[in-house]
Amino acid sequence: MPAFGNEFDNDQLPFTDAVRAKTDHLYPKVAKFIPEIEWRVHAPYIAAINDLKREKNAVILAHNYMTPEIYNCVGDFAGDSLQLAKEAARTDADIIVQAGVHFMAETSKILCPEKTVLIPDLKAGCSLAASITGDDVRLLKQKYPGAPVVTYVNSTADVKAETDICCTSSNAVEIVEHAAKEWNSDTVLFLPDQYLARNVAAMTDVKIVTWAGACEVHERFTAEDIRELREGTPGVIVLAHPECPPDVLAEADFAGSTSGMSNYVRDNQPKNVVLITECSMSDNVASENPNVNFVRPCNLCPHMKRISLPKILRSLQAMEHKVEIDPAVMAKARQAIERMIALPLTRQSMYTHERAPEVAAVEARA
Ligand code: 13P
Ligand code: SF4
Repeated sequence: MPAFGNEFDNDQLPFTDAVRAKTDHLYPKVAKFIPEIEWRVHAPYIAAINDLKREKNAVILAHNYMTPEIYNCVGDFAGDSLQLAKEAARTDADIIVQAGVHFMAETSKILCPEKTVLIPDLKAGCSLAASITGDDVRLLKQKYPGAPVVTYVNSTADVKAETDICCTSSNAVEIVEHAAKEWNSDTVLFLPDQYLARNVAAMTDVKIVTWAGACEVHERFTAEDIRELREGTPGVIVLAHPECPPDVLAEADFAGSTSGMSNYVRDNQPKNVVLITECSMSDNVASENPNVNFVRPCNLCPHMKRISLPKILRSLQAMEHKVEIDPAVMAKARQAIERMIALPLTRQSMYTHERAPEVAAVEARA
């Protein structure tokens, strides 16, 4: 079996006239990335998934890192972690299929406990979510009594249940400042991404204690990569995700969440741009910005890439894999997510390194 699980069923669905009629209008959205011969393999799955969605009153929430055929052809809502959480909270569908990773599906389940939430591959994890447990957070709270816990949504339900308020990269700076004020503390525990923590620290006077977690995709980019890119394409605009190390962000023109990067391209229409993030992001932003040239060094997220059309179809047919969470854990975790969603934030967090990106401590399991 291939490492990223993009395998199609042995019984490849046929590309019939009926499939063509149901999918022809979608092909122009992805024609730049998917040759016609490959489209004939995807299209039968797309038709079957879209039929089944209607039949079962299901929606597919697709993260910005999904491959173009998922993002453009079966996703009902696409966006960053925060946007997907908000969509989950307001959908009236009976079934949510999370085209993303497991922590995103948990977030949807926590916000919609009465709905069926499906993740097409249970192994679609996240190095950040795997880096810390609820027990770790309980120990940290003993070590830093009174400091509010701000947790990145890239975390398990157990960890969210120990959290005062969640954040995403699109609101992290504002949430940290809000938490310090609301809990009357000069220190905030910001978990579990040490790089996002440092990038937030560069934007605030709040003291930040963090955890030694990292995104395995973004931590691999280096400042040297960016300098080489600029040499290779003079004038290229560099956009980076704030899960990258601070020296990478210092070399970038703009840093923001996946939707922050997407909005930047839409609003500024740079001639040449590079997105320092997961590979599918460039394809998805490119499809909406035909006049922008995308320079493409990128890193694949092996977890996101586990989600494929055949797995989404199987998930809807067999109603697997259902996300189940202990109700008591869910109730506590919901409070932390709902506090984040309820905050009337008017702008995306910016990461311009106004101060040194220094945190008070980086904690790790003993
Ligand atoms: P966003 O919230 O920016 O979409 O990030 C999610 C993620 O997993 C990035 O690696
Ligand atoms: Fe997790 Fe990084 Fe993959 Fe996002 S890109 S899901 S943070 S491992």
